Amino acid sequence: MGAVLELRGLTKHFGGVKAVQSVDMKVEPGSITALIGPNGAGKTTCFNMITGHYVPTAGDLIYRGGEAEERLNGLRADQIAKLRIARTFQNIRLCPEQTVLDNVRIGFHTRSRSAPWQVLLNTPSFRAEEAEMTASARAFLEFVGLDASQETGIEALLADSLPYGDKRLLEIARALASNPSLLLLDEPAAGMNPQETETLMDLIRKVRDHGITVFLIEHDMKLVMEISDYVVVLDHGEKIAEGKPAEVRENPKVVAAYLGQEESDRRSERLTKVKLEESGADPAPETSASGGEATEASPDAVDGPTDEETP
Ligand SMILES: Nc1ncnc2c1ncn2[C@@H]1O[C@H](COP(=O)(O)OP(=O)(O)OP(=O)(O)O)[C@@H](O)[C@H]1O
Ligand SMILES: [Mg+2]
Repeated sequence: MGAVLELRGLTKHFGGVKAVQSVDMKVEPGSITALIGPNGAGKTTCFNMITGHYVPTAGDLIYRGGEAEERLNGLRADQIAKLRIARTFQNIRLCPEQTVLDNVRIGFHTRSRSAPWQVLLNTPSFRAEEAEMTASARAFLEFVGLDASQETGIEALLADSLPYGDKRLLEIARALASNPSLLLLDEPAAGMNPQETETLMDLIRKVRDHGITVFLIEHDMKLVMEISDYVVVLDHGEKIAEGKPAEVRENPKVVAAYLGQEESDRRSERLTKVKLEESGADPAPETSASGGEATEASPDAVDGPTDEETP
């Protein structure tokens, strides 16, 4: 069997912005593969093309994690989810007003067996499936480390009331509930403290050990270097390096790309300070190291095609 996922000349332009430019890369089955690079490098745009939220401008996406080899280009997000590709989002996308348990149950919908009439009539087989789903949802919560026992009662809480790190875990539980063969995680450690990040690293390894290939975007270099089998580096939309973590870390192009990022961060920090001083306002508190994802289109929905470009 070849790579689970292959990007061939993958390209995405937004008007004049070359967000992703002719990227070739492979994700090997059973691996933890990381996609890294400075803010705006095109990482999330790659994920959005893989999951059908953006249509590639050019290039191919070949997927072998399902029953047959598939070309993902042109498929809708819901069709791609059915091929057993699941993801989490850089900016967490839960249903905040639904319970923790219901958020996991949403993950099952891609594989519900009941016909619509069974749901409508609340038939015994539908009820049995419901009970089975609830039990499985609890198991997924336990798996990601969200204690779903009766005493803690976490499953009945509204998703919005969870601490930030737990929301990220809940999103992973929901993604796992859809029974993925390939799991994409977009900055899973963002906003986590070092302790939570350690726990997350164990969880990602555990997911991989269950036979799920993991493809992740992450700025936390400790996490990337410790758990990845293979690392691909983007800068300004182009692949600038790839290899084992130790090789990539030593690569002068990678070092330069990250130093450039630090320098531009420092410059924009200085600029903000000057502007604030000029306006007489108090400097704002520090924000996250990550630049956040673009919000113009909407790769934000839990599922289904939402990008206006999606066919
Ligand atoms: N929907 C969109 N419309 C216009 N431009 C976009 C859109 N999505 C992304 N871009 C642009 O494409 C480039 C790559 O963005 P992307 O979000 O993929 O970067 P990233 O590597 O994920 O960065 P970060 O680490 O900050 O999340 C940026 O210049 C961004 O502004
Ligand atoms: Mg991003």
